[in-house]
Amino acid sequence: MLNISRDSAENEELSRNHSCPNIRITDSEQYFDTNLTTSASIDSFEMSDALISQSENSTIGLNVSLSPTPSRLTPCPTCPEMLKSPLAIILVGLPAHGKTYLATRLCGYLHWIGCKTKVFNFGEYRRKHVGRQTAEFFDPDNEVAKSLRMDFVRKALDDAMSYIHNESGEIVILDATNSTRERRTIISECLDKHGVDKLFIELISDDEDIVKENIKNVKVNSVDYKDTDPDEAWRDFMKRLENYKRAYEGMSEVLDKHLAFIKFINMGERVQTNRIRGTVHSRIVYFLMNLNIRTQRAIYITRHGESEYNESQKLGGNAPLSERGVEYSVKLKEFFDNIDLKDDFEVWTSHMVRTKQTAIHLEDKYCVVSWTALNEIDAGIGDGMTYEEFQGLYPKDFELRKKNKLKYRYPMGESYEDVVMRLEPLIMELERRENDILIICHQAVMRCIMAYLSHAALDDMPHMRCDLHTVVKIVPGAYKNTISKFKIDANPNKT
Ligand code: SIN
Repeated sequence: MLNISRDSAENEELSRNHSCPNIRITDSEQYFDTNLTTSASIDSFEMSDALISQSENSTIGLNVSLSPTPSRLTPCPTCPEMLKSPLAIILVGLPAHGKTYLATRLCGYLHWIGCKTKVFNFGEYRRKHVGRQTAEFFDPDNEVAKSLRMDFVRKALDDAMSYIHNESGEIVILDATNSTRERRTIISECLDKHGVDKLFIELISDDEDIVKENIKNVKVNSVDYKDTDPDEAWRDFMKRLENYKRAYEGMSEVLDKHLAFIKFINMGERVQTNRIRGTVHSRIVYFLMNLNIRTQRAIYITRHGESEYNESQKLGGNAPLSERGVEYSVKLKEFFDNIDLKDDFEVWTSHMVRTKQTAIHLEDKYCVVSWTALNEIDAGIGDGMTYEEFQGLYPKDFELRKKNKLKYRYPMGESYEDVVMRLEPLIMELERRENDILIICHQAVMRCIMAYLSHAALDDMPHMRCDLHTVVKIVPGAYKNTISKFKIDANPNKT
């Protein structure tokens, strides 16, 4: 019998309008602070505790001077020298064109590749200071409102510059319409004064259905229309949209030809670029070209079944499954036989014996693909040892690793940061796909992927809890990622 328990305490609906830790959620008016604490290590023998907690952390209301101070940039760990100066990504686009969603996803990616990134949503500044407003507030001829709206732009910029200068922030994403050249000029002047590089991303949609879908699913349920009749909310939002359209000035190949910009058309159907230079700009284009915003699908992830090395608490190796691990491979197939999956469901494994054996029964029914990128972290000189043996033989390395598990690289082996780097193409492929996918991998690799999907802080990544014989399901959403855990007990009588 299949024994699946869905742990309700662990089924978190992680509402993450802004994807990085400590970033405020726009429409649900919540804040999340991912805070994971543990003791842990690689594949075979670690038990760790992860706490996902929520806390309030407003970015609004700081009174920061605009006097430039040198930024304190450290080279990006996964790609040293990647960022020579801080970067502001300025979003441009009409309301309901997916700006906040894109900001969230991009922030999560940049953060994961090692750039300290934060989203500043200008609508929140407006809500904080003048609350919810009807369409008239967004009328371009309403001079009083126009001047108030510029105040919120300045406040948001103050906070963004403070993040760069005082909190070692490397990238800020300015999530707002920024739909007039006048506003973009004011923003550009401020950024130039602070020595901040600029990249504009304009979201354009000539597909009315995409916009209407977004309004229906997101906007009329947002805090701006809380307790408002849905028809009334719809009418008001359409008027707001019309007001923005009247004053809209997109990025121009002629007038803005000196600027770096990307046009992201119809949620990624087309991506056009202008003056894209250097690693970060290119990686942003790379990410946007693979970003799949429109399709609902699920990503499942699990570690392989228990291996013989797990039993003897040894690091690395290429051991086969233990008896209990073999039972897990059977239960895993039963689990997937009992849930609704898209027809083109795929299973991804590493090239190691234990993940392939875990997928062996799934292979009868589904397409199984093996990726070297999914192989476990290379434990180098520690490979084949128990943790105690490693400590005894290499006490200095043991201490270094304990101090900084993210950066510590096993001599002749890898660090967590190295694993992130080799996983990047796989993450792009995962983003691009529209089908349901199960990833069967290893503890360190699962932590890296989970950190990406759940937007955990990088320092917390090596300590995230990824138990054996547990399937995690992630459904990426526009404003929230839904994360559920299913414990699949291979043998309930055995602990
Ligand atoms: C808003 O106030 O909701 C949007 C601000 C903007 O125009 O970007």
